[in-house]
Amino acid sequence: MATSASTDRRIDRLIHLLVQNATVVVPGPKIASEIGVSRSTVWDWIEKLRGLGVEIKGHPATGYQLARLPDVLVPSLLRPDLGECEIGHKITHYFRIDSTNAVALSMASNGARHGSVVLAEEQTAGRGRFGRTWYSEKSSGIYVSIILRPPLPPSAAPVLTLMAGVAAEAAIERATGLAADIRWPNDLLLSGKKLCGILTEMSADVDRLHAVVIGIGINVNHQAIPEELRSIATSLRLESGKIHSRAQILVTLLRAIEQQYQLLLREGNQAIIQRWTAASSYAQGKRVRVLASTGEFQAVTAGLESSGALRVRRDDGREEPLVAGEIVELK
Ligand code: BTN
Repeated sequence: MATSASTDRRIDRLIHLLVQNATVVVPGPKIASEIGVSRSTVWDWIEKLRGLGVEIKGHPATGYQLARLPDVLVPSLLRPDLGECEIGHKITHYFRIDSTNAVALSMASNGARHGSVVLAEEQTAGRGRFGRTWYSEKSSGIYVSIILRPPLPPSAAPVLTLMAGVAAEAAIERATGLAADIRWPNDLLLSGKKLCGILTEMSADVDRLHAVVIGIGINVNHQAIPEELRSIATSLRLESGKIHSRAQILVTLLRAIEQQYQLLLREGNQAIIQRWTAASSYAQGKRVRVLASTGEFQAVTAGLESSGALRVRRDDGREEPLVAGEIVELK
């Protein structure tokens, strides 16, 4: 369950006010009266934003001015760029939360609409696949969960998962120029190391999906990866040597999800399978170790089925579809 309240809308307005007046010093009392809080609350919030890396010049006596446009993911800064996009029509932002997926699942069970988005600057218990944790360093990555309400049966869940991988790959390419590989089902890799993970969770009954929560974690501006993950994980900054705008990547991602989701509804599984196959070196002919619930074995990949299952050929020639589990490249 969520452990803290979502970001006060007035902090969102404070950031918006500073962005709108970026060229001038805004007096503390003006900010206080415009957003309806005391001057000392304004000061507390300015300090909190500074703690998150937002560079604000000034103090209560002089007023405040942004030193540069901030890369915080508050709704008021994102929404103008999302236009009519249904994904992200409502954004709930947290500075710190246990897991955006946990919040999104609980919002979904309380009736949140298709396209609602939950975001955090930091997660204290980010969830990964197979009960792992997702390292969620403050203000360096994108930690986002998207609530979908597809008019589809539960058997569509694997393709929705692939759809999210295709969208994330396209968005990262568009926003940064970096072309990631996709490892089945939807890990994004650069130089063979993971920079984006996707966890799909859902509530469904036998013949209908109620809600699907797609949780996406992207390592964007991490300057270092913790020792225990260093051999398998990377970030966009480590790969490109550049700092990237999380806001720009996120907006591009939400738009790409809208696009791929509409494509799936319009044209069916095959359209997603085709795009996934084109973007992934793991689709065909990759020698891998398979970790499935039935055990571990070595195989060569042999294409995707239209359900989203990955066909693998064992060394004795037997071929089978992999529905769940993970694969690791064998070199
Ligand atoms: C994986 O590769 O194991 C999946 C990682 C998914 C991480 C994201 S971060 C945002 C969302 N909230 C979570 O708790 N997990 C997902």
